[in-house]
Amino acid sequence: MLRPRLLSELDLRLKNLKGSEDFKNGLKERFIANSSDIEDLYNDLYGHLPNSKKLFSQLLDQLFSAYSERSVELKTRDKDKLKEDYWFCSEQLTGMSLYVDRFAGKLPDVEKKLNYIEELGVNFLHLMPLFESPKDASDGGYAVSDFKRVDERFGNLKDLQHLGTQMRSKGMYLMLDIILNHTSDRHEWAQKAKAGEKKYQDFYYCYPDRSIPDLMEYHMPEVFPESAPGNFTYIHEMNQWVMSVFHSYQWDLNFKNPEVLVAMMDNIYFYANLGVDILRIDAPAFIWKEQGTSCQGLPNAHKLLQLIKLLVEVPAPGMAILGEAIVGPHQILEYFGKGRFTAHQCDFAYNATQMATQWDALATGDTRVMREAMKVVDLKPLGTSWINYSRCHDDIGLGYDDYMISNAGKDPNLHRKYLKDYYSGAFSGSPSKGALFGANPKNNDARISGSLASLCGLEAALESNDPQAIQTSINKLTLMQAQSFFSGGIPLIFYGDELGSLNDYSYLNDASKSYDNRWMHRPIIDWDKASKRTNIDTIEGSVFERHQRLIRIRKENKAFADLKNTHWLTLNSPAICSFIRTSEDQSVFCFLNYSNETQQIPESVFNSLGKGPHQLKELWSNQLMEFKSPLNYFDIKPYQFYILSNKI
Ligand code: GLC
Repeated sequence: MLRPRLLSELDLRLKNLKGSEDFKNGLKERFIANSSDIEDLYNDLYGHLPNSKKLFSQLLDQLFSAYSERSVELKTRDKDKLKEDYWFCSEQLTGMSLYVDRFAGKLPDVEKKLNYIEELGVNFLHLMPLFESPKDASDGGYAVSDFKRVDERFGNLKDLQHLGTQMRSKGMYLMLDIILNHTSDRHEWAQKAKAGEKKYQDFYYCYPDRSIPDLMEYHMPEVFPESAPGNFTYIHEMNQWVMSVFHSYQWDLNFKNPEVLVAMMDNIYFYANLGVDILRIDAPAFIWKEQGTSCQGLPNAHKLLQLIKLLVEVPAPGMAILGEAIVGPHQILEYFGKGRFTAHQCDFAYNATQMATQWDALATGDTRVMREAMKVVDLKPLGTSWINYSRCHDDIGLGYDDYMISNAGKDPNLHRKYLKDYYSGAFSGSPSKGALFGANPKNNDARISGSLASLCGLEAALESNDPQAIQTSINKLTLMQAQSFFSGGIPLIFYGDELGSLNDYSYLNDASKSYDNRWMHRPIIDWDKASKRTNIDTIEGSVFERHQRLIRIRKENKAFADLKNTHWLTLNSPAICSFIRTSEDQSVFCFLNYSNETQQIPESVFNSLGKGPHQLKELWSNQLMEFKSPLNYFDIKPYQFYILSNKI
């Protein structure tokens, strides 16, 4: 029920709105549906503050201006998206993350490469941060000094708008980041804070001495323990300590101050009206801090995300939200919302648990830890989706629970040590080439850097010029991608992986990057090399064709839409990951062998299809396979996978 006061706020603002009645009715409906929750969430967070009423009214003004500034083209696109059930869960979507400069050059150069993207079959692009960020202190663009100015390294706002229009005309989708948790220390707000303006010091967490920082740091983990230990930085210009959870040049915004929310909503609406289809909220786990806690994933961080979701949904209902929380399997589910906010907080989250347990399985030839983890991952609510990925621009954290490892019959400490050794060159039997990232001797934690191909063994295989090892590494990387493509969620390829890009060690010669080995897996695309993709006998050609095939198979089968239609199976062989995807008229059985030995699968797995024999189509090889009796077994080779559909 809409509260009378909110109704009068609505009437007042609707009067001044121009545009079609049809669109306005939609807005009205969404306002009526959401505004009481908006008010309650807002009051929970800010109601006790003297300026809360004034700022609430400002938030509503912003919401309506965002709507009136939204183009008819985008409003029509919103309407089309809403006609579908969960447009963002569709099997038609496949994404790619890329750095504009390292992939192509400037924004117009990306536009020239859209045919390459289409040739691959990708129709959703995550452009890595491209708003202004100091070149010497940018954290790959995640330290923003101006949220509305495109960094001149990439071009300008017009170029971005042009690219967006081109993409939409080709039926493509766009994802951009909002770096909500912090700004660069060169952002205007930080500069004003440094100059002593109290208003802007209140935008950040500033303390006159170490007493509170010391108390807080006691409970706060370190994100970059090697390159940026601690969580506070002394700023001599203002003689204060500022909270800087990531690098010292990334100052944490203080969302306890509602002015910060208003200021950041302004940026969010700006991105919405640029035509962003999926907004990636960077580091949402960190957006609310309380003394005496880890300052991560706090209840108010979730409330704030729910509030942002609703504030976006009213004027821009076609913009989905991805919460980039890289947290454990139980914690990640909270980002999809709980109770009455179930499926009404973040539409997407990164499936970091699946990703990490895939790397676990690849190193051990054993999927039992993954199976344990999937019991939790599988609880994701209908109407939300995963971003599935084997690699991204960040490191691989082994962030699943110890009990999952124990339940798989292993010792958690020894097991994690083995994985870190396996991927960082410390284990002599491993073909993987990667490195430890964020190693913290205080708690023995470390994550892993390295490109998909190098971690799968391609770099070492090329060095030793071993054709069989080259083939094995290609099979491994295809296996890893296949799980991302078929298990439920939108696959997001990291640019370069579609060509089998190896680690690039040139970052070591650049002082602005050498302290951060994540740059080893952020390639600069060599387009001469990339042109080999048309020749299937080259590595680039083989890997590219495999990605094309994965995308095609996904698009051709409705069962791969993410509609709570993944059923995990437990086969006797621990080496095999298996699940069934279903739609109204189709069942697709997926089997992935993570080990270096041939395994056997009992034909009884097909019992759910009814009485056999069964003839199924294997989608990867496009061949029919006969299964005659539930008493029989069939072979699956090392690192092979089957995608078996009953629709032939
Ligand atoms: C996210 C980004 C990462 C960045 C961090 C700080 O985790 O993915 O690259 O370093 O946020 O903004």
